[in-house]
Amino acid sequence: MKPGTVLRFPPHFLWGVATAPTQVEGHISNEWTHFVARDGGTCRVACDNYHRYSEDIEWMTRLGVNACRMGIEWSRLQSRPYAPLDQTELDRYCDLLDRLQAAGIVPMVVLHHFSNPPWISSDGGWINPATIPAFVDYVTKLVSALRGRVRLWNTFNEPDTYASCTYLLGEFPPFLKWRLKIFRTVIRHMAEAHLKICRVIREQGDDSGPVEVGFSKNWTFFQPYCRTSPWDHCIAAVSHAAFNRFVLHHFLGGDRKESSTFLGLNYYGRVRFRNCRPLVPVGGMSRETLAQMGVACDDMFERHPPGMELAVRQLYQKYHLPIYVTEHGAASTDEAFRERDLRQNLAALHRAMGGGAEVRGFFYWSLLDNFEWQFGYSKKFGLLDVDFSDAGLPRRMKPLGEIYRKVCVDNSIGH
Ligand code: BGC
Repeated sequence: MKPGTVLRFPPHFLWGVATAPTQVEGHISNEWTHFVARDGGTCRVACDNYHRYSEDIEWMTRLGVNACRMGIEWSRLQSRPYAPLDQTELDRYCDLLDRLQAAGIVPMVVLHHFSNPPWISSDGGWINPATIPAFVDYVTKLVSALRGRVRLWNTFNEPDTYASCTYLLGEFPPFLKWRLKIFRTVIRHMAEAHLKICRVIREQGDDSGPVEVGFSKNWTFFQPYCRTSPWDHCIAAVSHAAFNRFVLHHFLGGDRKESSTFLGLNYYGRVRFRNCRPLVPVGGMSRETLAQMGVACDDMFERHPPGMELAVRQLYQKYHLPIYVTEHGAASTDEAFRERDLRQNLAALHRAMGGGAEVRGFFYWSLLDNFEWQFGYSKKFGLLDVDFSDAGLPRRMKPLGEIYRKVCVDNSIGH
């Protein structure tokens, strides 16, 4: 791209930041409460966003965003199946939503992001079909209680990541491995709940404008490192079938897609396999070794900016649903690397839009450094730095935050 080029985004495009309750709020009782991550961190206090949400909204204002993707934590609101919602916790979320509205920030509310109330987990979690009506009951009550405050609903965040980390890779509680049948059951149950919730949300409507509902699919390209390796081809094909095709089929296949009004896309990059091993830093190889092999990674995954264009184009062509990029971000302490990554991915997104894909918004993962599940606090995805060694958990704008601010305020990206 020529220097001086400015890529403009459409008017009313949503520029946001994304977070999840277990990763930022702290003081939560779910299956993560007693979990100790690889770096020794726990989510018990996290970023203490539970108490500091108004300060974090002020930071969002400083970042110039007009949207935010946030979760509401089921375990806070119901103490048992079919219970009335806890009024104190509900009031807190209402206050948060009102402050967002006062700041001109549109919320997209995620209903399930890798966590469940303890009474759901102890009863089999999403393996148990009884979880479906229990969740639908909770959501029905929540949607009605938040009437007038939320117009954008995101039912499930990355069902494939949740089900694979929990039941195939043994990384999320209850740490089970290679239970393929369970993986498939969990996806089916989540998809069934998604369809029911879409109906509930559409029927209830909202006074603040047309409601939108969808789920977030984590899209990863799976590829062999070496085109001539049959085993690596095979692993890539099986991964694609299990994590991409199977999940999309259950959520959006056939007339199921009529239930959603949008598709959320979480895009980070790709995974290539060599001798049946994934070439990613979290798979035990150093970033330097990978870089020598031509595999450019952040601290987690291989980056693949052209894939942003391809994923958006392909998904739009296939489903014809408006797309929100509900997550994209890079984990690194190298801010120049993160800036390049952001610029290249936004340019790719812009190309996909120029090619006709309807994209309504982009949410950077994440507002602030936070509890990165099995990895704890060592992965730095934030636009804001949080000093976890200081009990006051002070936030500070990072260089990438300033860059993202300019993108949001200008509604464009300059090269
Ligand atoms: C998840 C986030 C996570 C991020 C970075 C996504 O898969 O939705 O919760 O922190 O990726 O790994």
